[in-house]
Amino acid sequence: MSRRSLSFVCQNCGAVFGRWQGKCDACGEWNTLSEEGGGLPVQPPGPGRPPRKGRPFALEPLRGQAQESPRQPSGMAEFDRVTGGGFVRGSVLLVGGDPGIGKSTLLIQAAAALARAGHRAIYISGEEAVAQVRLRAERLALGDAAVELAAETSVEDIIATLSTGNAPRLVVIDSIQTMWTDAAEAAPGTVTQVRASAQALIGFAKRSGAALILVGHVTKDGQIAGPRVVEHMVDAVLSFEGEGAHQFRILRAVKNRFGPTDEIGVFEMTALGLREVPNPSELFLSERDLGSPGTAVFAGVEGSRPLLVEIQALVAPSTLGTPRRAVVGWDASRLAMVLAVLEAHCGVRLAGHDVYLNVAGGLRIVEPAADLAAAAALVSSLTRAPMPSDAVYFGEISLSGAVRPVAQAAARLKEAQKLGFARAVVPEGSRAEAAGVGLELSPTGSLVDLVSDIAARGEKPCGGRPERPREDG
Ligand code: TYD
Ligand code: MG
Repeated sequence: MSRRSLSFVCQNCGAVFGRWQGKCDACGEWNTLSEEGGGLPVQPPGPGRPPRKGRPFALEPLRGQAQESPRQPSGMAEFDRVTGGGFVRGSVLLVGGDPGIGKSTLLIQAAAALARAGHRAIYISGEEAVAQVRLRAERLALGDAAVELAAETSVEDIIATLSTGNAPRLVVIDSIQTMWTDAAEAAPGTVTQVRASAQALIGFAKRSGAALILVGHVTKDGQIAGPRVVEHMVDAVLSFEGEGAHQFRILRAVKNRFGPTDEIGVFEMTALGLREVPNPSELFLSERDLGSPGTAVFAGVEGSRPLLVEIQALVAPSTLGTPRRAVVGWDASRLAMVLAVLEAHCGVRLAGHDVYLNVAGGLRIVEPAADLAAAAALVSSLTRAPMPSDAVYFGEISLSGAVRPVAQAAARLKEAQKLGFARAVVPEGSRAEAAGVGLELSPTGSLVDLVSDIAARGEKPCGGRPERPREDG
């Protein structure tokens, strides 16, 4: 059978099958296979097709002439923080995010900032007409920036156009799913097309030294739709996130060949487009509900930046056979672990209760250091004991119930002090590092101590009698 015949490609993971089937064996998704004719890029050698003889090339020493100033700051400090200091020449960035989250807005602003600094910036939209992009730019007061616009979807035409004149500094392709190339026969938006189009555009970026930004759509479960494969082809993958009801947006590096992956950039969506938020803690703590039980302020760190955020918990008697556990902005398995430790080592009875945990403001936290603040909020809600409003919490909880030290204790506390907090509940192991900052410290070695502290102030008992855990071995 010829390899040129039809193949079925999973639109989720890119796996290729010889026949159609309902479920992709590679990624387990249902109904994602679609027919793509002649999509295989390489013809296998066969009769009448001698294998090509290789061409020898020169190998280079590791030490060599470095390129002149490879970084181009975008003019948006929050953007540069995430990329690691600006756009690297010839690098390719994939920006993913939900529809309507503000990807096009962010990138037209970035292109305009670069154009205003005197560089050639090109914005190609495959989704909107030039007039629409113009209208938005005018509303954002970017009308004066010399961004070059086009509404095009043919990769060959785009590359031919970009190859004339001075090499551009920045090319934005919005979005990669709308692009198509003659090199692949599949329909636009299919994995084969997206992959082939991305490959051609990336080739252009590497040749010309232009920084290329590809916009990618996201599926309902947050993956960049279809082109998971594209994630491996690009230098950096940024995801633009935000909760529908909230005004602010987080730009987060998921992968970055030229910089850190744990930095976040914070923006606020306003009537005049995206505004950078240089001090996000103030924003996340702006609507605190002081004096009610079930909240604790977590002193976190995102990348190199300390970030204070309120953790809210609601523990309520359940009528369900299997009580609900719902979490927004934090890892559900992390919550399950904290609940298990509370039950097993601290005598907190939660089996008959629904548990809801929320990170206020729509931020998503990945740090285990949030364990202690989450536990404090949970116990506070259960016992109806409001937590002191001038205290922050951080620390990782181990399965034995011990509170373990976390990195950058001093940076967390300095941020808390700056925002007017007076007290901190910190891991015993962070005491030395934390002592230098002028906050009143309550070093805590085990979760039991914190639980009994809170329970002593509460209106309701938290269940059985807490018992001390054995030493953490
Ligand atoms: P957009 O950049 O088109 O999103 P994406 O490209 O990710 O699909 O942003 C669309 C949303 O942003 C839309 O719901 C309106 C909102 N928005 C503002 O609130 N203010 C603005 O100045 C702009 C341009 C958009
Ligand atoms: Mg868009």
